[in-house]
Amino acid sequence: MATVTFDHVNKIYGDFHAVKDLNLEIGDGEFMVLVGPSGCGKTTSLRMIAGLEEISDGTLRIGDRVVNDVPPKDRDIAMVFQSYALYPHMSVRENLAFGLKLRKVPKPEIERRVNEAAETIQLQKLLDRKPKELSGGQRQRVALGRAIVREPAVFLMDEPLSNLDAKLRVQTRAEIARLHQRLKTTVVYVTHDQVEAMTMGSRIAVMNEGLLMQVGTPQALYDTPLNRFVAGFIGSPSMNFVDVTVDGSGDTARLVGPSDWALPTPQRLRGIAGDIAGKKLVAGFRPEHLDIGEAEPDSGTFRARADVVEYLGNEELLHLNAANQDVVAIVDSEHRVKPGDIVNLSLPLSKLHLFDSETGEALTTERANAAEAVPA
Ligand SMILES: Nc1ncnc2c1ncn2[C@@H]1O[C@H](COP(=O)(O)OP(=O)(O)O)[C@@H](O)[C@H]1O
Ligand SMILES: [Mg+2]
Repeated sequence: MATVTFDHVNKIYGDFHAVKDLNLEIGDGEFMVLVGPSGCGKTTSLRMIAGLEEISDGTLRIGDRVVNDVPPKDRDIAMVFQSYALYPHMSVRENLAFGLKLRKVPKPEIERRVNEAAETIQLQKLLDRKPKELSGGQRQRVALGRAIVREPAVFLMDEPLSNLDAKLRVQTRAEIARLHQRLKTTVVYVTHDQVEAMTMGSRIAVMNEGLLMQVGTPQALYDTPLNRFVAGFIGSPSMNFVDVTVDGSGDTARLVGPSDWALPTPQRLRGIAGDIAGKKLVAGFRPEHLDIGEAEPDSGTFRARADVVEYLGNEELLHLNAANQDVVAIVDSEHRVKPGDIVNLSLPLSKLHLFDSETGEALTTERANAAEAVPA
């Protein structure tokens, strides 16, 4: 097992800066997910760990060893890709054994590892089949098995579930999580899917346009996003955002949005409300934190018109219009909201996020809150 450390790592293709000053420490045995929109530099970062992509600047370490100039085969890593890339003319057993044969691992040792891997991910009954006789999910398991038999210090996985249908994706997701619990090997896992990231990661590194936006546990990213990008990327449906300014100071300070849309200023910000009065801010709140009803202590309310109601059984997803802003809310389906209904939405102010409208950064007090809530 091993740690992986990016120390001011950059990747520049010609005049395109694909990965910008990446600093990230992946712990021994950790399941680290790199997540972000297509093109943000996830695969490039992973390929730099693998040694398939040269590092333009900075230092990359696996364990204590600087690996910038170490060839891929000497890095003690195994990679699983989106495409399974199995040898079609070989049986599952031969596919699993092939890499070890190339490395001149002794035969009995190969047999032991292949059998062990087959047991770990339940391929025993498939060992004599050819890839064309397997389903997509089974093929991806063979690809995983091929990585397992290498007994690497670090597993690198690049969108390994993308080619599977929704149901199989959920199953294989759990299988990979189980595999990690069992082997406890360091995993660096790339995906563009925030649900995969949230469900699988011990920690998640969110990237955007080559920059690391935030790294933390799934809960830290959900509860205390440090910037608007992370706030909008993590969570489904996405967080609602409304442009606001602070009006007044102290206990009566309000956050005022378009068309007189307003909420009280959260307690934690009242002390500085005077200092930030008039500053352009963005208020963020998650659909699941809105509820239909009257204001409770330390909550704010606003009225909205339901445009579309999506009934989901236990809850309903409301697409609403509040002061000409689109707002999404998830509420108990017993409310039976109908399109056209005017509803009173309430929001606990502890669940309200505030970002600087220019930089997108969470306000300093919010960041301090986050630091308190999430010990480093
Ligand atoms: N060999 C290359 N030459 C030039 N640009 C590249 C090359 N590989 C990737 N890029 C660019 O670098 C950016 C990041 O790519 P990538 O790491 O594959 O993104 P992701 O995996 O997050 O979708 C993209 O804009 C991509 O077009
Ligand atoms: Mg990619």
